[in-house]
Amino acid sequence: MSNDLPFLCRIVGLVILVSGAAHAVELPSTANLQQQMTVPARAVPVYEPHLSVGDRHVAIEYVGFRAIDVLERLFGRDWRRQGETVEFRALDGYISRIAVSRFLRENAFLVFARKDGKAFTVDNLAQNQQDVPLGPYYLVWDNISSPALLKEGASKWPYQVNEVNLVTLSDGALLPKGLDPRLSGGAQLAKTHCLSCHKINGFGGEKFEGNLAEIAKDMSEPEFVRWVLTPSSILSGTTMPPLSDRLAEGERQRIAKALFGYLRAVPVLP
Ligand code: HEC
Repeated sequence: MSNDLPFLCRIVGLVILVSGAAHAVELPSTANLQQQMTVPARAVPVYEPHLSVGDRHVAIEYVGFRAIDVLERLFGRDWRRQGETVEFRALDGYISRIAVSRFLRENAFLVFARKDGKAFTVDNLAQNQQDVPLGPYYLVWDNISSPALLKEGASKWPYQVNEVNLVTLSDGALLPKGLDPRLSGGAQLAKTHCLSCHKINGFGGEKFEGNLAEIAKDMSEPEFVRWVLTPSSILSGTTMPPLSDRLAEGERQRIAKALFGYLRAVPVLP
């Protein structure tokens, strides 16, 4: 196929540019992707988690491809063996890291439009943002057939995705040698709840500048806990979402304090 050639050159170019990260691919335009896929784009109905309030869910139909079909197209048939984690990078620096195994268990889709032809945007209620553009690509999950996925909310639904990597992460910087091993639970919580946007010792997302390990050392515990549980009470209109409000309040408190304990203890590495 003649349109494969420039696409492949682009991959090769990128791989050389991003030395070390051997499996980085910038996603092609939606028109280009549609040409490359062997199946036509399909309708993808989901409950839009950014619009969910408590138990009230809004069904939206998007248009796109099964994520595993796109991954196979981008990285080849053996994509599952090229890394443990699929890393989605968004235009605004947000990084979402999702285990390869999850894509084999649950149904994910890379979508690029709404079926009803309306603007490809969403209101992000947790982040106080309206009409957020979702393109070029938005990763969504079939949470209509899975109550467990519905419960997770929007944490693994990155939008504005323009690059995909297959990586095997080395998170040694989160637990440097000598750190009390009992703090590993705190490191895990940070990975789950914070590191899509923030960094600790260079590891994590790029939505907010700075090293959380350093920032937390300048804060008191109540101040930190307030940031994590109710960020908009400190900075109205902040785009930082509160720690999952699908968890019980006691559990939210426990997580915030465990995070603080871990961040205070972890040494700041250059
Ligand atoms: C969706 C992205 C996102 C997630 C997830 C997130 N934050 Fe934030 N956070 C931000 C942004 C953006 C700011 C800056 C405030 C602003 O400009 O709205 C911020 C600010 C902060 C601040 C204040 C920093 C300062 O210098 O005053 C702290 C502390 C913080 N976040 C901790 C956390 C912790 C701990 C977690 C995990 C429980 C977390 N954040 C999860 C985006 C995020």
